[in-house]
Amino acid sequence: MQFTKENIPELNKELEGKLAIDIISFFNTNLGNEITFGTSLGAEDQVITEMLASINSSVPIFTLDTGRLFPETYNLIDSTSVKYGITIKPYSPVNTEVEEMVVEHGMNLFFKSIELRKTCCQVRKLRPLKRALIGRRAWFTGLRRSQSVTRVDMQIVEWDDNSNMLKINPLINWTEEDVWNYIKKQGIPYNPLHNKNYPSIGCEPCTRAIMPGEDVRAGRWSWENPDTKECGLHK
Ligand code: ADX
Ligand code: SF4
Repeated sequence: MQFTKENIPELNKELEGKLAIDIISFFNTNLGNEITFGTSLGAEDQVITEMLASINSSVPIFTLDTGRLFPETYNLIDSTSVKYGITIKPYSPVNTEVEEMVVEHGMNLFFKSIELRKTCCQVRKLRPLKRALIGRRAWFTGLRRSQSVTRVDMQIVEWDDNSNMLKINPLINWTEEDVWNYIKKQGIPYNPLHNKNYPSIGCEPCTRAIMPGEDVRAGRWSWENPDTKECGLHK
């Protein structure tokens, strides 16, 4: 089996209908440490962490530490690492880039315009992601189709144009309910903010709790239009 852009339709055909754990196992067997997993410590990511740790606890796992995460998220990085005996490597932005950006546009530039919000995501997430993916051929994510209008067409295996490698989404077909049933059944640690109406958690200034009836991602960059609400990690 080839792990190239051209071979993605065949890979998706091969993996269609397979359990998430089998999808993860398949790539672990075939690509070993050339795969990595990016976790934001969200509910979906905690499911993947538990599955990965049960298969191969030395798979490199990273988190993009923007410097603006919730205290609850930082706590969860530590408690999850200890529970599963894994290392979740934080990738930080380049200090001089943050300093220049903040001097020019202010600490809370993301509220000033969509462009400045994207600049902040670029400096704090996208450039560190490039470093995190050096030397890999594929990365796992916790993306699900039902999370957003921008994600409905996503497949198990995709080509990531930004990073020129495969992106694998083992939970792409899972519902929110599937995720929570699994977390409860396996006793997986999760961010306590999920119990306070934060279904989707990113950086603290750019995330709020949702109101009853609101979409699960309504609390992310809540001042922006749903069609533009991606930070660029997933186009
Ligand atoms: S985002 O693009 O809006 O921030 P979301 O929070 O839904 O994405 O997360 C989707 C997937 O992107 C996560 O399951 C995870 O694989 C990856 N991801 C998001 N944020 C981070 C982060 N800070 N560090 C590592 N991976 C992340
Ligand atoms: Fe900056 Fe907000 Fe993007 Fe985090 S989510 S990197 S704080 S703009």
